[in-house]
Amino acid sequence: MAGGKLWGGRFTGQTDPLAEAFNASIEVDQALLEEDIAGSIAHSRMLEKIGVLSSEEQQLIEAGLLKVKVKFLEHPEQFSIAQEDIHMNIEHALTAEIGDVGKKLHTARSRNDQVALDFRLYVMKQNKALKEACLQLMAVLLEKAEAHSNDLMPGYTHLQRAQPITLGFHLLAYVAMLSRDVARLNEQYPRISSMPLGSGALAGLPYPSDREFLKETLGFESIALHAMDAVSDRDYAIEFLATGSLLQMHLSRLAEELILWSSSEFGFIKLHDAYCTGSSIMPQKRNPDVAELIRGKTGRIYGNLLNLLTTLKALPLAYNKDLQEDKEPVIDTAKQLLNALELMARMVETAEFQTKKMAQSVEAGFLNATDLADYLVSKGLPFRQAHEVSGKAVGQAECEGLTLMELPLEVYQALVNEVSNAQTVQVDDNLYQAIDLAYSISQKKSRGSTAPEEVQHMLTHYKNMLQTL
Ligand code: ARG
Repeated sequence: MAGGKLWGGRFTGQTDPLAEAFNASIEVDQALLEEDIAGSIAHSRMLEKIGVLSSEEQQLIEAGLLKVKVKFLEHPEQFSIAQEDIHMNIEHALTAEIGDVGKKLHTARSRNDQVALDFRLYVMKQNKALKEACLQLMAVLLEKAEAHSNDLMPGYTHLQRAQPITLGFHLLAYVAMLSRDVARLNEQYPRISSMPLGSGALAGLPYPSDREFLKETLGFESIALHAMDAVSDRDYAIEFLATGSLLQMHLSRLAEELILWSSSEFGFIKLHDAYCTGSSIMPQKRNPDVAELIRGKTGRIYGNLLNLLTTLKALPLAYNKDLQEDKEPVIDTAKQLLNALELMARMVETAEFQTKKMAQSVEAGFLNATDLADYLVSKGLPFRQAHEVSGKAVGQAECEGLTLMELPLEVYQALVNEVSNAQTVQVDDNLYQAIDLAYSISQKKSRGSTAPEEVQHMLTHYKNMLQTL
């Protein structure tokens, strides 16, 4: 027999040791230890239920599996490449533990439906963990958004100062993004939660496998209907990686803003020492390494999606060994994202927002130029001309080192007269109220705007959502 392999019956030659190591997946799929044990326990109970195992045999197997679990949890170094993967390592250890009864466990089961079962259970677990981590980050962002709902900052387009907004409003944009990530995780959960065990190798089983019982015991929502699809399908893993990629993209945008804001050029935020490092040569440096690394994880997380999509491309039905490559990208994406979400939450929680500096930047950047144009429109100037007047006013103020607030009314009137032939538009002192930054924000009447009432409305909306997601 090929080196005592569980499948060695028809073999006379030995496996090339390099091929054996190449074929083995235990280094990766030992992450499915808990799932494989849970699946095997449920399977053994089902086998008892349909009369394949006696009650004593089932009890022996279940107790044995629990012992094997503890053994491998405590001594992961005992996993062996010779036993190839998590399934055979466990079965081998079980038989060593309880003797020949252990050899009955694989009745009415193939590794093909076994691995599909384990992997779905694993992705279900990671889906829930990611969701929890997203909700936690959302809660931190909401708390900060509420605390800063009246603090002014520049809103940007093209990374140029554009219009005044509040910090609370800005932070809520990330809550909105994360709420979609959570919705995607929720939406795809039922597709993961489809129980494949009982499909056999590909064509079903010559046993009356009680799949309903397995579904209930293992906490699945449904039963995978088609045996061959059930052992070949990895859509749920790809969906997980796709959703993970979008989530990572959101994290990378937030990370990028934290990095920019913590630069001396912006000076909008001071990240806690716990998430920064120094330079080995430049003593003054405080580098936002953790945020940079969160941004930097994007390549591998997108890569993991492309990896599995490509592995599945043109793969003939049903099981092919290529599918063994499915776990590493999923395990990696889950691990990286869980760490990144947790760290991001802690980093935002402990960051000091430099609201004074933000307010100064709003004052300095002519962010009320649009409000000036809107004021002129209210006085009867067509928007295009109002835009021109406002642009000229900015140019003049900039030349003279003034803000729009400091430009005299005569200057505005002269510019209006210059641009408009009608000569009927008269500006008055109300202009200064209209271009006041806080006033500008309060006047944003549209749904979802930066106005304090709207921010309040969104805060309530997302807080409620946190309870229901
Ligand atoms: N280690 C394998 C995997 O992860 C388990 C399934 C093996 N099935 C087989 N027929 N070789 O895909």
